[in-house]
Amino acid sequence: MSLTRITACLGLGLLAIPGCDAPDDEGELGFRAGARHKPALYNTGSYNVHLERSLRFNPQPPGSDADAGRATFGVAADLETQDDTSAIFEGDSPVAGHTVVSNGRVCFTCHRGASLDFGMPPPPVSDSIALSDPLFTGIDADAQGDPDAMLNLDQLALFKIRPNRFNPTRSDSDPFRQVFGWRKSPALTNVGLAHGFLTDVRGRTMFETARGAAFSHTQETDERFDDLFSQQQGDDIGAFLFEQVSDPALLALRDPGDPGHQALADDPFATVPVSTPAQHRGQKVFEKYCYGACHNTPNVFNSLENVEAVGNGERPTSFAPQAPAIGKAYNVGISEANLNNLRFTRDNGDGTFTPIVLPLAAEDGALVEYEVAIDVGLAATSGRYEDVGRFKVPALRNVAAHAPYMHDNSIDTLEGVVDYFCSDEYNDSKDGQLYPIDLNAQQRADLIAFLEIL
Ligand code: HEC
Repeated sequence: MSLTRITACLGLGLLAIPGCDAPDDEGELGFRAGARHKPALYNTGSYNVHLERSLRFNPQPPGSDADAGRATFGVAADLETQDDTSAIFEGDSPVAGHTVVSNGRVCFTCHRGASLDFGMPPPPVSDSIALSDPLFTGIDADAQGDPDAMLNLDQLALFKIRPNRFNPTRSDSDPFRQVFGWRKSPALTNVGLAHGFLTDVRGRTMFETARGAAFSHTQETDERFDDLFSQQQGDDIGAFLFEQVSDPALLALRDPGDPGHQALADDPFATVPVSTPAQHRGQKVFEKYCYGACHNTPNVFNSLENVEAVGNGERPTSFAPQAPAIGKAYNVGISEANLNNLRFTRDNGDGTFTPIVLPLAAEDGALVEYEVAIDVGLAATSGRYEDVGRFKVPALRNVAAHAPYMHDNSIDTLEGVVDYFCSDEYNDSKDGQLYPIDLNAQQRADLIAFLEIL
């Protein structure tokens, strides 16, 4: 595909239309049935064609109570101290088929209070959280005996997650059930201004996301216990989290009826305290390379592309496990770079490891037997070859306080992130080829000065 063609497609917003996203030369770039993974030169995968750039967010669930949600989350009214009185999930569960006994983990265990924007302290984690905390003692809730888990948790603040762990339509031996990633626990402040939840955007509603979290942090087994996690509790957690914003002014973005809404929609930088010449110049660099490409939600700077979530935050009785994501995810090459050298083979429990081979559907209809060697991102949920390595565009407010960066905490500083986006790894990545970035020393310094005040 020529550069002109790409520009034309981008300008017209036609990336989802065949011919605008398909490679010219199938022989060189395409996929064949049964072929092993072969990196494509261009991002050949279209996205959900219904994605729209509209300012709509998961609504506050009717009848929900944010303060009850805070208690269910496991944090006291100061938003800093753990209080697990109402946050432990356990008891007789006919759905699970046995009595669920909690390991003491609550949401707060991995989302440690407002001063950390409800994310994790920087690693090594044991410098700030005692080894006797349920974070460490309950590690097998996510790790299930994995030998890399303790090191990855303590040194990198990463958790083992299996996207299809509680998907009742997949059997234990299904590779989709086995595939896993090592992911950070992201900051939750401003999560009510996000489209799609979790680092790979697989969470479509807050209810679904919170319920999955409760299932996975409480116990070592893969059993669902829907009967111990009520609609009300999930809604209350949603109400609590949707109130957590880095700047109270941002709440107006969630509400089109708010008098402040339009000002924030019209001026993407209305709430950013830009003052010095370097910050002003940095804003221009950001507008061109970051806002203009992917970080395009005004004043929040995650991706605005979205479709309205099915069920609208309520609990649908039958929620198709393979429904498409409601937000847009990108492949910027971080998974492929695997800078922390993480392992993605299945632990057999006896010192041996087996590659996981995912049968993925390519857009041309071919089946790709994909041997997993990196975090496959959204593809683990969607089953689409084109979604390999695609992750969520994080919100950037207060980003200077959120190190380390990326879904796998693989870059330690903002300088490192900017340098990554100027590197060949990024520019050769699937989306880097569509949104190339090359900054001179001045632009780099200015951009960092701007990012530091977000
Ligand atoms: C064991 C650690 C742990 C616990 C306990 C935990 N989380 Fe998380 N949380 C994570 C990790 C890791 C991710 C990212 C997972 C991924 O990307 O697949 C995450 C992601 C999230 C997100 C998505 C944020 C975003 O930007 O999209 C939400 C919302 C969330 N958690 C809410 C909760 C709630 C509510 C609870 C309690 C019911 C909870 N978490 C308990 C580790 C944890």
